Amino acid sequence: MSRGKQLYEGKAKVIFEGEEPQTVIQYFKDDATAFNAQKKGTINGKGILNNLITGHIFTHLENLGIPTHFIEHINDREQLVRHVDIIPVEVIVRNIAAGSICKRLGLEEGQPLDDTLVEYCYKSDEHGDPVISGEHAVVLGWATEEELEIMHYMTLRINDFLSGLMVGMGIRLVDFKLEFGRFVDEDGEEYVILADEISPDTCRFWDLETGEKLDKDRFRRDLGGAEDAYQEIARRLGVLPENFNA
Ligand code: TMP
Repeated sequence: MSRGKQLYEGKAKVIFEGEEPQTVIQYFKDDATAFNAQKKGTINGKGILNNLITGHIFTHLENLGIPTHFIEHINDREQLVRHVDIIPVEVIVRNIAAGSICKRLGLEEGQPLDDTLVEYCYKSDEHGDPVISGEHAVVLGWATEEELEIMHYMTLRINDFLSGLMVGMGIRLVDFKLEFGRFVDEDGEEYVILADEISPDTCRFWDLETGEKLDKDRFRRDLGGAEDAYQEIARRLGVLPENFNA
């Protein structure tokens, strides 16, 4: 499988043209950023682990009937995915208060929420991914009502599945971020499918027993041990390669 020209470089991934039309190659970097790239660094081996973790979770989701862009792994840092037009509305799911919502609304970190909270953000680095309402998305033309409904429905199913998967591994799924895209099949039919990644970069994972943070907050908050945390998630998911050496 040879990759074509570079189409896009994001903060954690690079997208290249694939061999087949309607496919692209997603390359996972070790680069880590936080606070809208004001803080930059490297988490050694992160790209390899996030490629494995995302592929594993997306395969489970496909098997549950949730359409995703994932096709197959190509090598340790690359996966073949369907080419989508990313909907510029990030979906944040919160089961427990943590991170930006605590600052924004004065909540205490660790406070359980009465129900799953779904928030939308406008995907724009220039504007710092601000929180928006569904109405903003529709009125400003970023997503249709129907797309928001599909995204919301898939998001709740993903949360149910992922929360259960994580509890089985002794981990609490605190919150996470999803991105969806529009995919046009060979018959010209357009679908909304899950895209991007699900990894310790995009989720908060707390150990159920100790409360230890096993995600990118170790980097964001200078807690140390980010490499070990990513490896621990991969290990518990059963995808950590033997003798893995970042
Ligand atoms: P937040 O508390 O900073 O709003 O983050 C909520 C969740 O979304 C957390 O699991 C991290 C994830 N997230 C991303 O994946 N990308 C981002 O750019 C941000 C801000 C958060």
